[in-house]
Amino acid sequence: MPKLQQPRHKGALTKGEELILGIESSCDDTSAAVMCGGKILANITAGQAVHEKYGGVVPELASRAHQKHIVPVVAEALRAAGVERSALSAVAYTRGPGLLGSLLVGSSFAKGMAASLGIPAFPVHHMKAHVLAHFIRDARLTPPEFPFLCLTVSGGHTQIVHAASPDALEVIGETLDDAAGEAFDKAAKLLGLPYPGGPLIDRCAAAGNPAAFSFPKPKVDGLNFSFSGLKTSFRNFTEKHIRRDSNFVKNNLNDLCASLQATITDILMTGLHKASAQTGITRIAAAGGVSANSGLREALQATAREHGWQIHLLPLEYCTDNGAMIAAAGMFSLQSGAPHSTGDAAVARWKM
Ligand code: KG4
Ligand code: ZN
Repeated sequence: MPKLQQPRHKGALTKGEELILGIESSCDDTSAAVMCGGKILANITAGQAVHEKYGGVVPELASRAHQKHIVPVVAEALRAAGVERSALSAVAYTRGPGLLGSLLVGSSFAKGMAASLGIPAFPVHHMKAHVLAHFIRDARLTPPEFPFLCLTVSGGHTQIVHAASPDALEVIGETLDDAAGEAFDKAAKLLGLPYPGGPLIDRCAAAGNPAAFSFPKPKVDGLNFSFSGLKTSFRNFTEKHIRRDSNFVKNNLNDLCASLQATITDILMTGLHKASAQTGITRIAAAGGVSANSGLREALQATAREHGWQIHLLPLEYCTDNGAMIAAAGMFSLQSGAPHSTGDAAVARWKM
């Protein structure tokens, strides 16, 4: 256990200075953050390289890695924040949705820690937390005014959320099959790139031509999305060309990545335009791992200029899974007097 620094926060806290420990373990990142009065004092994440060669997260390996990481990650977050555990006001943890074995590690740890300290443990919905990351008090962030729309795009979900207030987050559109992050990761696997492929495709795309290849875009009713057709057509297209030229991927990697990224971005932007037209809302936020994508971020900024949208983007460390967003959601629970109970079981599926 690393030695804790001299605590900066001790004893009774004035209102708004609650110290919240946020714990995230829904997929393959073990993350812990310490928040004080809405500001992040530390946000520590341990990733899991073990999945790289499998092209996706292996649930059993993920749970075991969380077991290894959870104690040192929480200790390091407290140490980096300069906070003693006895000064904490509450612990917030991801209750779901996610991989059950992964969720069980973080939620059991969080509830045990809260019980031993005699403080509340707040269960947090992972996808709500992605949206609420916009309310972290940080000089780089301007919190969106309600109501706003949030495009929440991750490895497991693709949603358009109508946010009327912190506790009124409604999904008004979502993917009918694969998530946007899954489309990036599965295409990357086909290209021989390790998991998670999204950030690697982003990097290669920067040097490629987005108009080099074109892929079909789905026709979906309402505000929903679909990415499974794109996945299939990308696979058929690359396999057809590899049969003719075994070096096709190697010689066209950047163009393939740029064209795929442009297609995914276009699908997401089309959905957002429809949602904005339907709701009349032009305050648009983005969250989740895929919101770190440079093509998507540029498209959002361009729409802000062309259509007068007010765009809210997160710093990259708050896009991908992180303990800070869980602490932010916990802060709202604490302030609103939300129920907390150590009896809540982790849930793999949880409707928003
Ligand atoms: O939100 P997140 O960290 O975890 C989930 O809740 O799923 O999102 C992970 C997803 C992965 O699919 C990863 O490839 C994707 O976000 N991702 C990106 C980028 N950074 C992360 N996709 C495209 N471009 C990026 N820069
Ligand atoms: Zn996530």
